[in-house]
Amino acid sequence: MSADHSFVVDPDDTPSNPSGNRTLGEVLASRRSVLRGGSAVAAAGFLAGGGVFGAGAASAAPSDERGHDDDRPGRPSRLLGFAAVPASSADTLVVPPGYTAEVLIPWGTPLRSRGPAWRKDGSNSAADQAQQIGMNHDGMHFFPMGRGRECSRHGVLVLNHEYVDQALLFADGAAVMTKEKVDKALAGHGVSVVEVAEERGRWKLVDSRLNRRVTGSTPVRFSGPVGDGHPALAARGPAQGTLNNCSNGATPWGTYLACEENWNGYFGTADQSWQASPEQARYGVDKAGAGYRWHEADPRFDIAANPKEANRFGWVVEIDPLDGRATPVKRTALGRFKHEGATVTESRGRVVVYSGDDQDKEYVYKFVGNASWRSLRARGKDPLDHGTLYVGKFEADGSGRWLPLVFGEGALTAANGWADQADVLLRTRQAADAVGATPLDRPEWVAVHPRSKDVFLTLTNGSGGGPVGPRTPNPYGQIVRWREERGDSTALRFRWDIFLLAGDPKYDPKVTLSESQVFGSPDGLAVDDDGRLWIQTDVSNSSQNRADKGYDRIGNNQMLAADPTTGEVRRFLTGPRGSELTGITFAPDQRTMFVNVQHPGEATTSWGTPTPENPRAVSNWPDFDPTGRPRSATVVIRKRDGGIIGT
Ligand code: FEO
Ligand code: CA
Ligand code: CA
Repeated sequence: MSADHSFVVDPDDTPSNPSGNRTLGEVLASRRSVLRGGSAVAAAGFLAGGGVFGAGAASAAPSDERGHDDDRPGRPSRLLGFAAVPASSADTLVVPPGYTAEVLIPWGTPLRSRGPAWRKDGSNSAADQAQQIGMNHDGMHFFPMGRGRECSRHGVLVLNHEYVDQALLFADGAAVMTKEKVDKALAGHGVSVVEVAEERGRWKLVDSRLNRRVTGSTPVRFSGPVGDGHPALAARGPAQGTLNNCSNGATPWGTYLACEENWNGYFGTADQSWQASPEQARYGVDKAGAGYRWHEADPRFDIAANPKEANRFGWVVEIDPLDGRATPVKRTALGRFKHEGATVTESRGRVVVYSGDDQDKEYVYKFVGNASWRSLRARGKDPLDHGTLYVGKFEADGSGRWLPLVFGEGALTAANGWADQADVLLRTRQAADAVGATPLDRPEWVAVHPRSKDVFLTLTNGSGGGPVGPRTPNPYGQIVRWREERGDSTALRFRWDIFLLAGDPKYDPKVTLSESQVFGSPDGLAVDDDGRLWIQTDVSNSSQNRADKGYDRIGNNQMLAADPTTGEVRRFLTGPRGSELTGITFAPDQRTMFVNVQHPGEATTSWGTPTPENPRAVSNWPDFDPTGRPRSATVVIRKRDGGIIGT
């Protein structure tokens, strides 16, 4: 999320962490650092045990099982077969020669053929929006259906709708707030579940009983230590809704995980006597919120009148895509913070979930199941309710540890003011402060290599620092990589390095990307089954295309692919104006890739601000209707020759 809404500032860039724990930049600053190699920052690293920036031979580290002798840094990648696309400032979406990109389910598409049609003037009601695809598509997963080749042509697509751009959502813009507009905004948020199929060469929405919306008003349950009935959840009215669903995860038992990121921004109050508690301040809850102003028309979001409503947000939400009647469940054992995503892997039968907390100087977390997920489910237990939450600590010597956030252990004792495990989870950020976690530059998506189990984390940008570059502040971001001890995702120790420094060498000589590779603010991340690392960017709307921000040659937000072994990076796609690229999932045969174009046409310093009179001021993608408005959409990408995406 650019988190810009109608503003061109990014509140994620403002820390609310007063802990004083050492940042990763400060850890790096304490090291004797030598940058080597190609676009990947060289690392004898965690393999040779020589330290991340040690003096060992340049090696982009973990060679995978493919065993190609010539897959070394500086060699052409065998994984990347497409021709790179140039950076772009055009209001269009560009893919490499030989590829096609088709728009599927833009904002407002009715879930069923007899549902309410999208109105291009923004005049759909709240009730209409609840039966249509939401706004600002984000994390997404394809759940295949059928057998054999069928499962790569038919499935359920589940996607998040992170937030709404109220300037584009409402016919009259955002100036006046009403209860109907709050309800429409709530209906534009959440998750869409839609059955899709390839028919006669084109992916289409299927008129299915599975199609449904989970919105900001859908009944939800809570499980784990902060379960249903916990006093902290006793806000006015029944528990409803999920908001600011950024990235996502998918479990091995076939459920979808939607994450709640910048939930604090929906709350506010006109009560000038209200003061944030330390816990509320730690999560950035304040009188103004992020500018939605829902509290003016709906007391549910008045933080002074209904403070416990905020405790219902900041969680990971489990949704069953194949049961339209199943109530979404907030899994509180995974902690409460600004969850970017919930990347799931498993080791020795136990589930492992990685999650970044996306704000400057926040942490990365890992949940480890305490028994095999199959055995838990066989006993009628939910695997995400039974495990331990850890937070990452990165050491200067390239080692790292996962520190448990368990009541009674370490600093998290009654003597230190902790009541129980529910208290630890409700105040996850403060618990992580107390155990000494390492603050990072806005931790966003996590991706796990399917075979090596190496973990990649985007640190999109932040206040940064250290000798890895003139990164104080750090406007371009980087990708951190680690390997868990013994390659076991449940391990509590790891070795880490910096896989890649993003940026433009014109403005930052430490960046080793070539002019044709420049990019910044990596955010979305995935590793496909062949091991290609896909990178999606979210440059803030205040920086896109701007020379004074070092982003003029980088252009619009984009998507790139990297070879984790050789370190080569190649630009794959460029998005329309004002948009970010986010959400990525594949059909099992890897011959269809689904990605999301979020917030095309949002207020952008370089291009302007949409208004009720001219909602097309920044972009008119994808319809290019002279009387329409820009729409977020899923895009289906395929090769004309039917080949694997990326080759
Ligand atoms: Fe929703 Fe951190 O991006
Ligand atoms: Ca982002
Ligand atoms: Ca994001």
